[in-house]
Amino acid sequence: MLVLGIESTCDETAASVVSSGKTILSQVVSSQIDLHTLYGGVVPELACRRHMEVILPVVDDALVKAEITIEEVDLIAVSYGPGLVGPLLIGINTAKGLALALQKPIVAVNHIEAHLYAVMMSGHTEISFPALGVILSGGHTAIVLINNLGDYLLIGQTADDAVGEAFDKVAKILGLPYPGGPEVEALAKKGDSKKLKFRSGACKDSPFNFSFSGLKTAVLYAHKKGDALCPQFRADICAAFQETALNDILLKVSRAAEAYNCRTVLFGGGVTNNLALRKTFEEKAPELRCLWPTRALSLDNASMIAGLGYHIYRQKGPSDLATLDAKTRIPFNAG
Ligand code: KG4
Ligand code: ZN
Repeated sequence: MLVLGIESTCDETAASVVSSGKTILSQVVSSQIDLHTLYGGVVPELACRRHMEVILPVVDDALVKAEITIEEVDLIAVSYGPGLVGPLLIGINTAKGLALALQKPIVAVNHIEAHLYAVMMSGHTEISFPALGVILSGGHTAIVLINNLGDYLLIGQTADDAVGEAFDKVAKILGLPYPGGPEVEALAKKGDSKKLKFRSGACKDSPFNFSFSGLKTAVLYAHKKGDALCPQFRADICAAFQETALNDILLKVSRAAEAYNCRTVLFGGGVTNNLALRKTFEEKAPELRCLWPTRALSLDNASMIAGLGYHIYRQKGPSDLATLDAKTRIPFNAG
């Protein structure tokens, strides 16, 4: 079964062709980083315009690279949220237009759930459930219990900023380009994490919830007080921030793994590219079987949408074209 996936939740326009939920025949991602870097974050209006310009060429490119025609597509899968409403509508309406014109079934896919499915497409075999799913991206930070594909329980989430957002904001404070995660990671390598003392946010309501906004504010004040032009001081800030954030993730994931008796942890989202994060888990939680996505599947892409879309279609059939709509927020259990 050939599935065309379409993704446009934020600042990447993407299309992929995936066979039977597994084999990626093509993956095309048009990134808008060049557009938003000037503003230090995503500007929704600009994102919409760029999505509109490139979405059809991106779909065409995915079909050409997969060496198939649009008529050969069996199913169209599209992410319907969570994300920015304007960008989402462009992907959804493109998918609807194609489905209507070609009389193909369509299936709506939750972007966050797809980030976890991306791990399952990354060459890991024999994943036994229940397992923990940990989403660490620019828009989301959550821990979920995966009972099975399509059967989740939200265990923890962020009360304020997502972890990737915190990396991006710290980068902005330091005048580093967007997206800030890789920049902060690179600078942290040259820094001494013990030179500054930051604390991560504990949430009274749950031992599994996150809060990164206090940490970000602490970085802002430390930056204001210190020698902002000194390269070593800047590196020390990055190192201390990163270590605090990563130890906090380790703490909450380890707690959840123990409480829910899970040894396997599936990670998803752009922040999983952070090698210090992977090392933290390797060294400090060797009892956990941590499964990471490949780089291409960790960032926003449409292969994970097409891949998961195949399973949703097989389990539940097609989505209703008339009621399929963009959702800026989706409670995790709603799937
Ligand atoms: O999953 P993603 O592509 O988009 C969302 O769905 O949000 O993640 C993008 C986020 C950005 O915040 C970016 O700064 C962060 O992932 N990121 C990193 C690294 N690479 C990307 N954060 C920390 N360290 C990295 N190496
Ligand atoms: Zn994402």
